[in-house]
Amino acid sequence: MAIAKTEASGGRQLLPEVLAFSSSLALDKALLLEDIVGSMAHVLMLARQGIVPKEVARSIRDGLASVYEEVQAGRLQLPDEEDVHMAVEAELSARIGAPAARLHTARSRNDQVSTDLRLHIREASAEVLRHLAELLEVLVGRMDAQGALLLPSYTHRQRAQPVTLGFWLAAHGAALARDVELFGFVQKQLGLSSLGCGAIAGTSLPINRELSAELLGFGGGATHNAMDTVGDRDFGMDYLYAASRLMVHLSRLSTDVIDYTSLEFGFAVLDGEIACGSSMMPQKRNPDVFELIRGKSGRALGNLLGLMSTLKGLPAGYNRDLQEDRQALLETGPMLKACLHILSLAMPRLHFNAQRCKAALEDGYTQATDLAERLVKKGLAFREAYQAVGTLVRRCQEANLPLSQATLQMATAIHPAFDEGVMQSLLPENSVLHKASLGSCSPQALKLQRQMLLDAASQAKTLASEVVGLEVLYAKLKEVVL
Ligand code: ARG
Repeated sequence: MAIAKTEASGGRQLLPEVLAFSSSLALDKALLLEDIVGSMAHVLMLARQGIVPKEVARSIRDGLASVYEEVQAGRLQLPDEEDVHMAVEAELSARIGAPAARLHTARSRNDQVSTDLRLHIREASAEVLRHLAELLEVLVGRMDAQGALLLPSYTHRQRAQPVTLGFWLAAHGAALARDVELFGFVQKQLGLSSLGCGAIAGTSLPINRELSAELLGFGGGATHNAMDTVGDRDFGMDYLYAASRLMVHLSRLSTDVIDYTSLEFGFAVLDGEIACGSSMMPQKRNPDVFELIRGKSGRALGNLLGLMSTLKGLPAGYNRDLQEDRQALLETGPMLKACLHILSLAMPRLHFNAQRCKAALEDGYTQATDLAERLVKKGLAFREAYQAVGTLVRRCQEANLPLSQATLQMATAIHPAFDEGVMQSLLPENSVLHKASLGSCSPQALKLQRQMLLDAASQAKTLASEVVGLEVLYAKLKEVVL
């Protein structure tokens, strides 16, 4: 250990077992680039404030840049330290010697880890937003290609009312559009810089936290209270909540697909490119992709609950428990990106069978509500109409007939208000065409919904583009003139 803290304060060297137990390096080496960029901004700020001589700062910055570039080239062999922050400092010190000792002025690993995580999550969430935009556009593409196809909708997993495929796609899209807003909120929460909070109480050195915030692209400036900041993982909880909610949405979409592609429903067939086989049953075309998304959603929820449980009993300020945030925060981004991307590939490879979908409407009773509403348009009280149609449905069921085969004669025997016009409502396409309410499955209402999805996709891209990527930050900090 090059920088042993216990030794520095006169204590004994850590037991190797204790070091191994407490080390976070295996996980937080994923924050290597963030840590380097954060340190570059910090040392530039120290130099501007006259806390560290300019030539020392330059040598530190250039040393950090050489580490950054070796990481990128995959050549860096990290020193075996307790965490990524110590590893970067040790590596720097091995490269540039004495000047490295000034880097850790007026900061602590407590504000450093918070800074690294903020940088990491904001980039991950920008990526998620880009993938959300992609999926929203894929859904709109499917609406345009096959949106008019008729199929039943379900309540309680029982056939409910006729809808279109476009409406079903837009329903799942609407949930994703809300996720775009939620990730926008997450970005806002990430917009403040923790750097310069020190261990818990700030520093007596004349640092400029606004400047390091600006150098790192934190548009909201510096956080407000150092004690709060070093123990705060609200941004992490917000991110994991947004991730969980998004995964719940993807999971529900997946369940629909899994059901619709079963022989029992028979609404859609998975393209060979996305259907997995069975090692034993030669006939199988399994929806593994969708099942895996549903399965991973459990992991996402577990991550949220895990972090919240870690946080709930902590006293104010930094506690080492916080290191346990790492697994959840680091694995969530790649999981979301993978799920969103695979869905963007899979959704266009889901082939709906218009005849099978229509048949499910024609041999059932899904037009019953339309029939009743048509009677309401003729002046009947809804309950009276409901009763009359209910009786007609029962008579059909007794005669083993679908509602589409009810005759005018059967209907008028129940209520005189039935006529040829009313019976037109038995056609599923009329059910959809005659919907008049905002947000319904009618073609006019769907046009608005389609536009809303496209707006959400472009909002997602805008939000993503507002995040300054690490690469851009690095390039900028490397050139700052001192
Ligand atoms: N490895 C620690 C973490 O990941 C960094 C902060 C440690 N702070 C400390 N005082 N030991 O949370």
